[in-house]
Amino acid sequence: MSAQFPVARPRRLRRTPALRRLVAETRLAPADLILPLFVKEGLAEPQPVASMPGVHQHTLDSLRKTAHEAVEAGVGGLILFGVPAVKDAVGSAGDDPDGIVQRALRELTAELGDSTVIMTDLCLDEFTDHGHCGIVTADGEIDNDATLERYASLAVAQAEAGTHVVAPSGMMDGQVAAIRAALDGAGFTDLPILAYSAKYASAYYGPFRDAAECAPTFGDRATHQQDPANADESLREVLADLDEGADMVMVKPAGAYLDIVRRVRDAVDVPVAAYQVSGEYAMIEAAAEKGWIDRERTIDESLVAIRRAGANLILTYWATEVARRLSSR
Ligand code: PBG
Repeated sequence: MSAQFPVARPRRLRRTPALRRLVAETRLAPADLILPLFVKEGLAEPQPVASMPGVHQHTLDSLRKTAHEAVEAGVGGLILFGVPAVKDAVGSAGDDPDGIVQRALRELTAELGDSTVIMTDLCLDEFTDHGHCGIVTADGEIDNDATLERYASLAVAQAEAGTHVVAPSGMMDGQVAAIRAALDGAGFTDLPILAYSAKYASAYYGPFRDAAECAPTFGDRATHQQDPANADESLREVLADLDEGADMVMVKPAGAYLDIVRRVRDAVDVPVAAYQVSGEYAMIEAAAEKGWIDRERTIDESLVAIRRAGANLILTYWATEVARRLSSR
């Protein structure tokens, strides 16, 4: 008779919140979270990004304040994106010592010192008038090797302005090696590189292109970013970046690429970051605004899933909010 009843009852460990907390396999901590921040040159007031409710293009002042709040909430780091007042074909503002990213870096490092990790996205798309991540040839192609020289110069400009980590996101072949050599040559041998190694040509970047004002004026990024159909290729990209000197690697986007996060985590022994991108953010905010999902629960679930897949670090626009929530539990 008793054989009809289950001996193993997984529900026993799910009975109370305290039991569930005790046996949770995955934990998020504020220090796992990295907050992306946008700073725009020449703004008088912070500007809300329409497609990303709660996210702003910052002035230098509001950037400082928002960075402070994030650090107080305990986030692990910040990553900075700049929108220059003037763009040109080669992205000159990107390595101008007075460019917006370099100015913001000097202010933030003076203000926050080593109390947090200040990272910089390293790419040309925010700085070029055509919105592409590299130098465009007369036939409209992205010139890989000419672009590497620009990335090397941006890396040194960001290093001189005080960045703690450079994060190349342009998906040019050889970018990590070129940046490593440039940094070493300029004496920045101890400056780490967080490589956006497995970065997909994704529709989920849509809202970011409003925030960073970098939608390409023609063509797309499919000749350098990865095809969403490919998984093995990610490992090739990650291993190449490690060979070239990457200190940490990233998978991007996160939510639709959890299989890639897991495979990368299992294949390497360096910190793995995952970027919960603008479209992932916008979808949850929009559905919550309509009352179709529970906003906080969905945010928390989306992040624990990324952590469970194996990410050590998560870049998320909700970093400050979630860090506060985690600390108050
Ligand atoms: C390139 C870059 C992009 C994002 C981060 N770095 C845009 C792109 O590749 O088109 C997207 C981030 C997001 O969507 O939140 N500088």
